[in-house]
Amino acid sequence: MEAWKPKTTVPDCINSGTFGRFLRLSLTSCATPLHRLPGLSRALGIDLWIKRDDLTEFGGGGNKVRKLEFLMAEALKQDANTIVTAGSPQSNHARLTAAAAARLGLDCEILASAPPGQFPDIYFRNGNRLLFDAFGASVRPLPTGSDSLTALQTRARAIRKDGRRPFVIPVGGSTAIGCLGFLNASFEIAEQAQAQKIDFDVTVLASGSGGMHAGLLVGNALAPFTRYLVGASVGREKTNQIALVDGLAGDCAALTGLSGTNVSADVFDGARGPGYGLLDDGTRTSLLTAARRDGLLLDPVYTGKAFNALKMMLERGKIASGSKVLFWHSGGTPALFAYPDAVDSGEKHDF
Ligand SMILES: Cc1ncc(COP(=O)(O)O)c(C=O)c1O
Repeated sequence: MEAWKPKTTVPDCINSGTFGRFLRLSLTSCATPLHRLPGLSRALGIDLWIKRDDLTEFGGGGNKVRKLEFLMAEALKQDANTIVTAGSPQSNHARLTAAAAARLGLDCEILASAPPGQFPDIYFRNGNRLLFDAFGASVRPLPTGSDSLTALQTRARAIRKDGRRPFVIPVGGSTAIGCLGFLNASFEIAEQAQAQKIDFDVTVLASGSGGMHAGLLVGNALAPFTRYLVGASVGREKTNQIALVDGLAGDCAALTGLSGTNVSADVFDGARGPGYGLLDDGTRTSLLTAARRDGLLLDPVYTGKAFNALKMMLERGKIASGSKVLFWHSGGTPALFAYPDAVDSGEKHDF
């Protein structure tokens, strides 16, 4: 098969040539859908819209494709032949990195770990973990509690010693280059909102390793699509998450050399539940509400928590009823199959 070649130009849907000097692979077509959610709008008393990054048509979909279009282009530019990344066994980022490596004919190594004793067996066999294997990645344990970036760099040195050429992608693909994917996304959504004549009061998204949040934050300063952008932390407490996102936003703005991007993140941390990847009743209810009101699948780790955050912000008056709200669906639905407890009533079925 002929090797995939990076493109040096941005696609037509990007309403600016600003990013043209950054290499970008095309793993998906241009715009993911933006549409209204009628059932949930009625149930919540807001005008609720959704950006369907769960429908990026590559490797099972999700937000990480946007980052990987830039990160993998950089890997090819550096003539790498082995991609090394890290994450939990249910990492959507690791799954999509494995898929991108497969398409490009590169090897992919995933360093994976989860805190012992917190997850059932199925967490280590189904969902994203099963797809790591499907996409041909090799998976190694990441010692619990170790610093993932240090472990990735150590592994990269060993790969280099073996005569291969590694390219390290940190957890979540959250680097300044990865964030470029969400600068692009800001132009995409701003154009869609303008075309549909929608003026969003609030946008809610899941904030994990912070790259999506940071990219949209910088992007919203350049191509405004919402008055207020709030990240729902899925693990860290508010101050730490803000520091993480602001740092990445600064790095991303510096990389592009764009002015007018001195921004600071807002984070809601009330829907984190017991910790990263761990379910609570609010997340469970949110998953079921989205599924039963609008036929919409959320995931237990990111979008379920972000949707629960949206509901909590409404209840607490942080989002006014009647607002035009955009919910950024960042994907993650394969993880649902590793979390039967997310929707399981506990009843045994014989049929
Ligand atoms: C489905 C999904 N949503 C949201 C996020 C959060 O994005 P970020 O890590 O850039 O904050 C992730 C990250 O892994 C994800 O997989």
